[in-house]
Amino acid sequence: MGLDKDFKNLGENILISAGELEVRAEELAKQISSDYKNSCIDEVILICILKGSVLFMSDLAKKLTIPNVELEFMRISSYENNTTSGEIIIKQDLDIDIKNKHIIIIEDIIDTGKTLSYLLNHLNHKEPASIKLCTLLDKPSRRIIDVKVDYIGFTIEDLFVVGYGLDYMQKYRNLPYVAHVL
Ligand code: IMP
Ligand code: MG
Repeated sequence: MGLDKDFKNLGENILISAGELEVRAEELAKQISSDYKNSCIDEVILICILKGSVLFMSDLAKKLTIPNVELEFMRISSYENNTTSGEIIIKQDLDIDIKNKHIIIIEDIIDTGKTLSYLLNHLNHKEPASIKLCTLLDKPSRRIIDVKVDYIGFTIEDLFVVGYGLDYMQKYRNLPYVAHVL
């Protein structure tokens, strides 16, 4: 995506509205809560992948009914400005021990799958009891590395989107909706 793209009038290019995001977060939270209840797991650690997942995790976490939920954060960079650099850098790792803990990775979007497969490999070495993946958005048409995703908010076409955590050069994360850039 080049710099010639149009970031004006994003409000007219809404792909997923604030209302739809809220409803879906509630549905996902119900499903996750019920899955963990059925597995007799009453303690989970949500790992928010900064910065893109911060709004999604906040909304999701509030609606979970699992008795013990911890919120943790990692920061990973995979995109240099607007294009994928191919190189994944952990800018902030976990500062807790997740050995024998049940964790759920909260992602904003899965595009090529490179970030997530790198992250899964990294976290598996820490020997958690289980790892599940929850992503707000999935762009399966761009997948290069196959990853098994447990919970998906919305599957979208090959569009560049911003808002509700997702950025273009660090901007637009605060929009309450997801909009596509023309
Ligand atoms: P992957 O490693 O290609 O799966 O890239 C995932 C990361 O790329 C996400 O966490 C986002 O930061 C970024 N990304 C991919 N597609 C988009 C998009 O449409 N808008 C904003 N960021 C995106
Ligand atoms: Mg990003």
